[in-house]
Amino acid sequence: MSERTRIAIVTGASRGLGLVIARVLAARGYALVIGGRDRGALDLAAAELSSHSPAVLPVAGDITEPPVRANLIQAARRLGGLDLLVNNASELGPIGPLTSFDVPRLGRLFPVNVGAPLFLTQLAVPLLTDRRGLIVNITSDAATAAYPGWGPYGATKAALELLTRTLATELGEQGVSAVLVDPGDMRTRMHQEAFPGEDISDRPLPEVTAPFWNWLFDQNPEDIRGERFAAQHEDTRWLQRA
Ligand SMILES: NC(=O)c1ccc[n+]([C@@H]2O[C@H](COP(=O)([O-])OP(=O)(O)OC[C@H]3O[C@@H](n4cnc5c(N)ncnc54)[C@H](OP(=O)(O)O)[C@@H]3O)[C@@H](O)[C@H]2O)c1
Repeated sequence: MSERTRIAIVTGASRGLGLVIARVLAARGYALVIGGRDRGALDLAAAELSSHSPAVLPVAGDITEPPVRANLIQAARRLGGLDLLVNNASELGPIGPLTSFDVPRLGRLFPVNVGAPLFLTQLAVPLLTDRRGLIVNITSDAATAAYPGWGPYGATKAALELLTRTLATELGEQGVSAVLVDPGDMRTRMHQEAFPGEDISDRPLPEVTAPFWNWLFDQNPEDIRGERFAAQHEDTRWLQRA
């Protein structure tokens, strides 16, 4: 690995969208730190990514646990620094009307979907500052669309969106950028959980977003600071700019 090798952390990279993002980064020569709770799945992903990436360090554990977050950052430090933090790991929680939602479950959803990305950002900023790096926070159209049944998950993504925009403003002076990406509907485990027992084969696989990621990682982070991108929509700014 050369001193100029770029380094990324991708949370939730053992499957689904996170694994697709990690594959794109590996093909672009990034060294990677990847996270997820299932150690076996994470090791398999690391073995696959290693065929392209100069170094892949899997860090298994729940993103809500402080030692896990510290290990992710420590792994990036071992690789030499950090250019990119992708906060992708997320949980959906139960789908259903708010009037019967078990409110204490917000106490799980917010720490996973909002607290952990913010904690990780706080730990990562010193490393990202050294390399004028980028934070990518994965959001959803549920953050804005008020879909019936999706309120609690949507609320966590709405909170993540506001925090990301605020971070983009606060971190600008130190040269760190932050953006939001809504990947659109994809055929993943999370999406199947939202529609148990239903056929979701009409949704595209997460690989459909690969062209977007290649475009995004070609950009100067400071030129896209604070923006929100939709990875699958043909009328979005990223396609107009591409
Ligand atoms: N699929 C869609 O249609 C869709 C649409 C819009 C937005 N999104 C967003 O896209 C992102 C990726 O979702 P996906 O569809 O790819 O889901 P997925 O296939 O279920 O993958 C989620 C990943 O996050 C990890 N993860 C989940 N909870 C974790 C925790 N507490 N600690 C550590 N790792 C955790 C999972 O690994 P372990 O289970 O082993 O921990 C897995 O690697 C999420 O932010 C989601 O909100 C998805």
